[in-house]
Amino acid sequence: MKVLIGYASIHGSTAEVAHFMGQVFRERGVETAIIAVDKVESVKEYDAFLIGSPIYAGMWLTEMSRFLDQFGADMAGKPVYFWITCIRVLEPDGYQHALDNYLHRPTLEKIGTRDIGVFAGKLRFETIDWDERWTLSARYDGKELPGSRNDDYRDWNAIRAWTIQVRDQLLGG
Ligand SMILES: Cc1cc2nc3c(=O)[nH]c(=O)nc-3n(C[C@H](O)[C@H](O)[C@H](O)COP(=O)(O)O)c2cc1C
Repeated sequence: MKVLIGYASIHGSTAEVAHFMGQVFRERGVETAIIAVDKVESVKEYDAFLIGSPIYAGMWLTEMSRFLDQFGADMAGKPVYFWITCIRVLEPDGYQHALDNYLHRPTLEKIGTRDIGVFAGKLRFETIDWDERWTLSARYDGKELPGSRNDDYRDWNAIRAWTIQVRDQLLGG
């Protein structure tokens, strides 16, 4: 079995999550390619997909939409797992909010998504520019002020646990 871990990322933290997932797969004997979705040229050689993006202004990144438009038909029928990183998930209702608001369900259903992982991401104000700060203050839909979250919130144990669960589903135990 050959798995594609395709990711989008602006500031690199979601790319690191993708590489971590790839390491978890490889340590467990699964051949894995980890590629930015805007660099993927074909998906035909892969048997399963773990596809992930950070959430910016309430949606996954544009390159993810392009990737799904371009390759969704080739992925359908094979196991697809989708995952996101975001900050809103840190709020008490955040997990459900992310599931209900940050995902275009018809797209995920069309490609037969089996499960969705929602993970806390990384947000460092010193690394984001003024446009992004404006986007955050105008478009972030959390209840807490976005400025109150300024850290690396990635929970590697949670990411590992989900990835192992996916791996076990793919390989049947
Ligand atoms: C401009 C901007 C907009 C964001 N919008 C949201 C949002 O709407 N909801 C959310 O939960 N997180 C939001 N985030 C947080 C990102 O999803 C989080 O920082 C993510 O881990 C960044 O991934 P990256 O390092 O791969 O780019 C936003 C971050 C930035 C910088």
